[in-house]
Amino acid sequence: MILAATEENISKAAAVIRAGGLVAFPTETVYGLGANALSDSAVRSIYAVKERPRTNPLIVHISEFSALSTVALVDNPTTKQQLDALKQFWPGPLSVVLPKQPGISAIASAGLDTVAVRVPAHPCSLAIIRASGVPIAAPSANAFAAISPTTAQHVADSLGDKIDLIIDGGPCRVGLESTVLSLVDSPPRLLRPGAVTKEQLSQVLGEVSSGHVHGEAETSQLSPGLLKRHYAPRTPLRFRANFDESNLPERTGLISFGEPDNRTAFYRVLVLPEDDLSEAARNLFQALHELDHANLDLILVDRCEESGIGAAIMDRLNRAVDNDVDQ
Ligand code: TXA
Ligand code: MG
Repeated sequence: MILAATEENISKAAAVIRAGGLVAFPTETVYGLGANALSDSAVRSIYAVKERPRTNPLIVHISEFSALSTVALVDNPTTKQQLDALKQFWPGPLSVVLPKQPGISAIASAGLDTVAVRVPAHPCSLAIIRASGVPIAAPSANAFAAISPTTAQHVADSLGDKIDLIIDGGPCRVGLESTVLSLVDSPPRLLRPGAVTKEQLSQVLGEVSSGHVHGEAETSQLSPGLLKRHYAPRTPLRFRANFDESNLPERTGLISFGEPDNRTAFYRVLVLPEDDLSEAARNLFQALHELDHANLDLILVDRCEESGIGAAIMDRLNRAVDNDVDQ
């Protein structure tokens, strides 16, 4: 089920994709669940396996910048200029939303006339895309609204019995999902913060506004409450600052930025570096997965500085905490 990222297994993965199957594979951000983006039926099975609402579009992965025009319409002069300025971030953790080419499955784009595209910076994903010869639609390889996987084992724990193949390329280097930037809005709109930061984008594009990714508002209307907690563990998760520590359950875990003051009050403590937020981002989902499997009654987590990649960390934490009790 989990196969090492050898040349032979990459060929196997590509064959599965070409045959309309599903392959989980590593990217530099998180593990993706890939299918042929040109095939409605292949893409449909991604939604089925993840139990993801069909209103939430997928990111299409290509192996090089020059293949962009096979997926999206890039003739507009302003778009061309913007893409040129963004080239430096590709391959990398940046997805851009552009007008869609008709060949891309309408299921992948949730019926929108736009598509999110990226070139991942991971040799394994690039090799699979090249060998399969098609663009690959891939959401994070986790069940809907659960924590994204940053190791092959996380994928196996969440979806293992439902997919054809998992390629193991080791732990993901970035650890948070890609930045999503819409170029169909003017000024460009940051839909999801990530490792390519708003500060970096503004530097090359000028003004960048903020928004939210397509599908979330609609979906929360369709199924109220469902999306209050996204990226959520099963164990209750709360911000430490909002919690009365005089009355902690016996099995309370803590994810702390920097060494915590009263370590002994907690059953398990995982420390993320507060002075290196890229390293913290790399280990954040692993920490959430680990504590979620430690049979705890409660997990507390610190907030971190919201600049640079800290904005992406806080975005994921804000969605992961139990908002009912935290507001
Ligand atoms: O790092 C990543 O982006 C990972 C790896 C596998 O590449 N993929 C990922 O996919 O995080 P997913 O499906 O979990 O998140 C895709 C996000 C969703 O929030 C979706 O709403 C947004 O991108 N999105 C996709 N297409 C869009 C579109 N046409 N317009 C606006 N938002 C879009
Ligand atoms: Mg996801």
